[in-house]
Amino acid sequence: MQFDTIVKNGTIVTGSDTYFADVGIKDEKIMAIAKDLPEKGARVIDATGKYVFPGGIDVHTHLDMPFCGTVSKDDFETGTIAAACGGTTSIIDFCIQSKGQTLAEALEVWHAKAKGKAVIDYSFHVAITDMNDAVLAEMKEIIQKGYPSFKLFMTYEGLRVDDEALLKALIQARDYGGLICVHAENYYVIKYMVDKFQKEGKNEPIYHALSRPPIVESEATGRAIKLAQFADAPLYIVHLTCKLSLDEVARARKANGKIMAETCPQYLLLSEDNYKEPDFNGAKYVLSPPLRNKENQKYLWQGLKDNELQTVATDHCSFDFKGQKDMGKDFFGKIPNGVPGIETRIPLMYDRGVNAGKISVNRFVEITATNPAKIFGMYPQKGTIAIGSDADLVIFDPKLKKTISQSMLHENVDYTAYEGFEVTGYPVVTLSRGKVVAKDGEFVGKVGAGKFVARKKPMIL
Ligand code: URP
Ligand code: ZN
Ligand code: ZN
Repeated sequence: MQFDTIVKNGTIVTGSDTYFADVGIKDEKIMAIAKDLPEKGARVIDATGKYVFPGGIDVHTHLDMPFCGTVSKDDFETGTIAAACGGTTSIIDFCIQSKGQTLAEALEVWHAKAKGKAVIDYSFHVAITDMNDAVLAEMKEIIQKGYPSFKLFMTYEGLRVDDEALLKALIQARDYGGLICVHAENYYVIKYMVDKFQKEGKNEPIYHALSRPPIVESEATGRAIKLAQFADAPLYIVHLTCKLSLDEVARARKANGKIMAETCPQYLLLSEDNYKEPDFNGAKYVLSPPLRNKENQKYLWQGLKDNELQTVATDHCSFDFKGQKDMGKDFFGKIPNGVPGIETRIPLMYDRGVNAGKISVNRFVEITATNPAKIFGMYPQKGTIAIGSDADLVIFDPKLKKTISQSMLHENVDYTAYEGFEVTGYPVVTLSRGKVVAKDGEFVGKVGAGKFVARKKPMIL
């Protein structure tokens, strides 16, 4: 066979195996994995001394999203360029239903945001914010059209749903092969605490964390899990942050609950100490659930190792420090919630996870690419290196040292939460369906080349 491109002499790493071979690509797909593939007529990419990973899959992003009185700064062009430069080749973004909208109408809006802009492949979870019988019925069609995952917020004014809506959605998803994802925090406790701190004149960013302590998250996590167990439905907890919530997940999994959970680099690497940085700098880290004390980090790493946590996503939701985060200068409750991270997930997880001896290189691939693909119905099209899979690949130099700074990143935001973090290991080439989209830290792809991915039935891991 004559290949379009051959990735030569690299060390292929999948979720289960590590071996030396060439990868032959034709018509956007991996068509051969073998030693000494014939080069005739092919573009050859030398991967000697490098790893070849399946492209990263980030299943939790918020691009171009109206939120907290503003709009998240990265859109589908800048956000996916940043993703590609950081070794991510697919994202699943959250399409948010507005009040009164059908789910199909909400999807039309999100498709318009992505089409002609995304540089890598993308799909959408549908966030249901206005549940009624028609929406419930529509869930079946939406699953069948290739959107098998839904998100329900248990908090946030204007977005949250009650337990009745959550229960009904779980039952519907169970019956039609879908998966419910939840943002688990107790709305009423947060409201009480935010009002209390405001009355007491406690307005600094640290009070964001103090208004939503771990029990606020673990109560909602446990409640959602119990509803899922009652319904005998699968459930995926997004952005789990702390030991208390992890205990809820572990207990349910031991009892055969179909419960899965994600954490994010910020919860593994940053802590509530960051909120105390001077000059309102703490606002950079205001997101929900908030950063926790450092003690929690070791439990999250252990959870990733033991498969109590199955994925690491970013929850990338970027707001400029100047002009957006400062909306909350006088009151933490007005700081837009979210941190950027779409570009730094792969190098941070490799360095702080694999180099630090916390996870193996295969587990790193599993939690950043393979499990996300399996859980969200994209496997084996994506998330692995196999014959017939999309040629979404990352050539990763495990020796390349970088110091992360906002100025080297492509995220369209005026800071990174990881400024000054030193990492060893960085993507040097990213291929999306066989085309090189990023090389040596620069975007070299085509704006709009990303395609929508219709997804299949989620796997329960
Ligand atoms: O603070 C966050 N996490 N912002 C994005 C929206 C969400 O809750 O996922
Ligand atoms: Zn959330
Ligand atoms: Zn989110």
